[in-house]
Amino acid sequence: MTRRSCWSPSSFAWGRLPRRRLVRLGARLSVLAVVALATVGCLIPPEAKPAAPAGGRRLDDSQLRPLRDAAAPTKRHVGCAVQPAQLHDDAFRRLAATHFDSLTPENQMKWETIEPQPGQFAFQAAEPLVTFAAENHMRVRGHALVSHSQLAPWVKSRSGEALHAAMLGHIQGVVGHWKGKVAQWDVVNEALADGPSGRLRADSPFTALGPTFIDDAFRAAHAVDPEAQLFYNDYEIEGVGTPKSDAAFALVKRLKETGVPIHGVGLQMHVDPRHWPAAGRIQANIARFAALGVLVELTEMDVAVGEISGSIDQKLDRQRVLTHDIVAACLALEACSGITFWGLTDRYSWLNSPRWGALRGQLPHYPLPFDADYRAKPMVAGILDALAGR
Ligand code: XIL
Repeated sequence: MTRRSCWSPSSFAWGRLPRRRLVRLGARLSVLAVVALATVGCLIPPEAKPAAPAGGRRLDDSQLRPLRDAAAPTKRHVGCAVQPAQLHDDAFRRLAATHFDSLTPENQMKWETIEPQPGQFAFQAAEPLVTFAAENHMRVRGHALVSHSQLAPWVKSRSGEALHAAMLGHIQGVVGHWKGKVAQWDVVNEALADGPSGRLRADSPFTALGPTFIDDAFRAAHAVDPEAQLFYNDYEIEGVGTPKSDAAFALVKRLKETGVPIHGVGLQMHVDPRHWPAAGRIQANIARFAALGVLVELTEMDVAVGEISGSIDQKLDRQRVLTHDIVAACLALEACSGITFWGLTDRYSWLNSPRWGALRGQLPHYPLPFDADYRAKPMVAGILDALAGR
């Protein structure tokens, strides 16, 4: 993380003012300071704070085969989510470029960032990521065009035809800007409700447009960049045998059968070992999507170990095995074309924040392949073993 220098109140000449005015001025200044600090980003969100490294076994980094080299013969991409501030650290850049040949902007292509006001696009936050990817021969996965979360507030206040028009305008603006530079788009993200209903989620403004908003989003993206591969992306649709994964399958099947330009489905793969489907169920799910003629990618993989019992070595070993088996399930089917981790180092993970991490139970989770000091964890051995067919 780079540190921003923040203004300090200690430099002000407090002594020259009478006491009552000083108190009032102090109160006003503190309100102003909070607003200003929040605006310029001096208040670091909890997930941006580096995590302490876990104990436990590490691999011998001098012997380590880069993941992207190991994946090349399998014709699979191996990717990671990145945030621009992380690129200020040379060691981070080296790690990302050495091991990964695909990059997903973790937050910087989301609607709230990229079109904060109607028709006013702000692409600059994501540009360093797109440039870094090009310099290092990495593919870019664009994430995500239409989603219920991290939406600009103005979108939520629209409905009907105005909302539909806003959606199409957003897709045209964003896909058009990076035409030819973004290989895959998560066109629609997390449209389905949690639980058994199989319906579209109630907390998305797009749901009120009816299910064909999804068709229209894909058609709009395809019209702007016919070369881009277009994905439906969601969580807890990873394995066969749940109503939500059946709903995702039915959705993609309908889109394919009606000629909507959809090319793939993204299984997010935020593994919660407390209730995760066995690798066989994941493989069966990939197989049924493959039979529809779409690609499958594991788009946001991380493996939270907080709730795994035992020593840190036992946790990391279980993480290695879970990761191995899921990567192997992907490799078993040609249609599974890539595996992206939701970050690369435990130093930065959304699961380090109490808000998101608590969804996976007890923190800390150490969810990613490299530790907070960028050293390879047993999880990397699990990925390499799977890639080598071991
Ligand atoms: C997460 C980011 O990692 C966090 O930094 C952010 O605060 C919230 O969103 N599914 C998705 C991703 O599709 O966009 C989410 O990313 C993780 C869950």
